[in-house]
Amino acid sequence: MKRIGLLTSGGDCQALNATMRGVVKGLSSNLDELEVYGFDDGYKGLIYGNYRMLSSKDFSGILTQGGTILGTSRQPFKLMRVPDENGLDKVEAMTQTYHKLRLNCLVILGGNGSQKTANLLRQEGLNVLHLPKTIDNDIWGTDMTFGFQSAANIATEAIDCIHTTAASHGRVFIVEVMGHKVGWLTLHSGIAGGADIILIPEIPFDYKKIVEAIDKRSKAGKRFTILAVAEGAISKEDAKLSKKELKKKMEEKAGKYPSVSYEIADKLAKATGADIRITVPGHTQRGGSPCPYDRVLSTRIGSAAADLIMKEEYGYMVGIVNGRMKKVPLEECAGKLKMVSPSDPLIEEAKRIGISFGD
Ligand code: F6P
Repeated sequence: MKRIGLLTSGGDCQALNATMRGVVKGLSSNLDELEVYGFDDGYKGLIYGNYRMLSSKDFSGILTQGGTILGTSRQPFKLMRVPDENGLDKVEAMTQTYHKLRLNCLVILGGNGSQKTANLLRQEGLNVLHLPKTIDNDIWGTDMTFGFQSAANIATEAIDCIHTTAASHGRVFIVEVMGHKVGWLTLHSGIAGGADIILIPEIPFDYKKIVEAIDKRSKAGKRFTILAVAEGAISKEDAKLSKKELKKKMEEKAGKYPSVSYEIADKLAKATGADIRITVPGHTQRGGSPCPYDRVLSTRIGSAAADLIMKEEYGYMVGIVNGRMKKVPLEECAGKLKMVSPSDPLIEEAKRIGISFGD
């Protein structure tokens, strides 16, 4: 008999359900007795003891279903050691729930912050496994997170759709892509969608270079230009500021521009006189059904996690490296961010075909 806890934490994405299905199917086909407890809304359910017992029926027919059947919430890692408004010690409360249910293992599907909390629970003596989810693909120790490819498909489709309207009107278009502080999603969807200029946080941009790239296209008779801009993109000027100075500047800008794309559009319109439009696909990038790649990846991650549980090997993130499943010790990966390297071959290849990174 095994007693497993499951929770999904942080921003949702596609393939959360597919991954849980993989874990539970992997376990139930190897065990006569299995009890699965699903916690409501991420760590919140573990803290406040809100859970329900799930049966194999709950995991049937959810491979293709986006979102999460358990619900999710953001419980910032930095607040985990801070008591709640009623003075409750959250870490102690989570530990108590775990022991009360006599769990053998807690399986946590989440991003970077959730991974840090998973590591904290490991340090508190709980058996945990972390399964790397996020559309941002910024988790260190795995080549790919589930959700990323599905989101890249949606962002690519957004850029595809902009092409026809940009061409008809002869406009400059900015498509703002999610990704938090990293540029993976923008880089991949920008290349896949045929963007002319790609701006990512890891390569601070120079307005002059963007203007040059737009001018070059106009001179070559191109009626439109499409920019794929990461929500975390930053100018060279801002990147030079200290953390404190940047925070102050960002606060000032927030009153004027809803996001970085609006600032870029404003400055480019002044510099080029171009007719500029902004499209923000926003949370559509996290919605809908997981793409085939993510369904396969999630099934593999879920199945590999079930294998570790059968072997009673805990304290790992289950990632994929060079096409093979890999268990990565949480103490090794927790707290590290996987960013795009400016010397990534993909950047060099994109530059060779004429894509500008504004640097
Ligand atoms: O981490 C996933 C993500 O979608 C980021 O790309 C984005 O910056 C953030 O979450 C948005 O968070 P929220 O859903 O809380 O607005």
